[in-house]
Amino acid sequence: MIKKIGVLTSGGDAPGMNAAIRAVVRTGINLGLEVYGIYDGFKGLYEGKIERLFRKSVSEKINQGGTFLGTARLKEFANPEIREVAIENLQEYGIDALVCIGGDGTYHGAWALDKMGIKCIGIPGTIDNDISGTDFTIGFDTALNTVVDAVDKLRDTSSSHRRCSIIEVMGRNCGAIAIWTGISVGAEVVACKETGYNEDEIVETIRNASKSKRHAIVIVTEHLTDVDKLAELITANTQFEARATVLGHIQRGGKPTPKDRVLASVMGVKAVEELVNGNNGCAICQVDNKLVPIPFEQALKTKRDQVTEFYKAFKQLW
Ligand code: F6P
Repeated sequence: MIKKIGVLTSGGDAPGMNAAIRAVVRTGINLGLEVYGIYDGFKGLYEGKIERLFRKSVSEKINQGGTFLGTARLKEFANPEIREVAIENLQEYGIDALVCIGGDGTYHGAWALDKMGIKCIGIPGTIDNDISGTDFTIGFDTALNTVVDAVDKLRDTSSSHRRCSIIEVMGRNCGAIAIWTGISVGAEVVACKETGYNEDEIVETIRNASKSKRHAIVIVTEHLTDVDKLAELITANTQFEARATVLGHIQRGGKPTPKDRVLASVMGVKAVEELVNGNNGCAICQVDNKLVPIPFEQALKTKRDQVTEFYKAFKQLW
């Protein structure tokens, strides 16, 4: 029977992670467990940065962005010797199970630890919404709101100056932020990994728009192209002057939206309940509005490409 659990956040932070930690701590205590916070993700686990958490430790946290436990990316965690040290640290505190909040890298770390005997359960926390086992990840809704707010502001100035705004958004492996934003703002172009990058087509679309519109919006995901060069190309080949804006890490900060706070809270509760009921080696996923535990392997492998489906709808909205 589990008596002590740990909780950590790992990988890129996401708004709502604090709400998830709070839910894990309070549910754990309510179910008679001791709960320990692990600082700075798997890196902190390896370094033994572990501290007991109490109900009060998570007061005033639900509305805060970031993660008060801190986070890190530790590639070396793929090395079993590094994980052995992490396990020894957990054993020192008598911690039998871990709730790991993060994206696919976090799930791989948690899955590897689970196979080595530490009962692990995952909660999807990443702004990218790129864990295919779950309909939504914690942080996506807040990031989307941040991006849409920024693009709405850029539209004002673009329209005043008769310009084309190119906005680079996050999501190197998944265009969810890009396509949801593109639909939300009525963009002319969305380009991401799933849609591919066709420069001639983009210029042609903007050239046509520049004949009759006062502004145009192009949403591009990071690492797809040099957005300043694309701006030069559009300026040279259309009736618009173009400007590029890279939103960068601003997308990861800010107060979580109510949707992210609620998703984080209910997932946190479910994760602890599942652990107590003897379920581990899995991640909490939202599937068709229900929370279900899905084995790590399946949660990572499931093929669900909503971006391509939504892109087809986006094209009908022109
Ligand atoms: O957490 C996901 C994410 O924000 C991606 O969208 C982005 O590619 C990456 O993290 C950036 O990571 P870092 O903050 O380590 O540069």
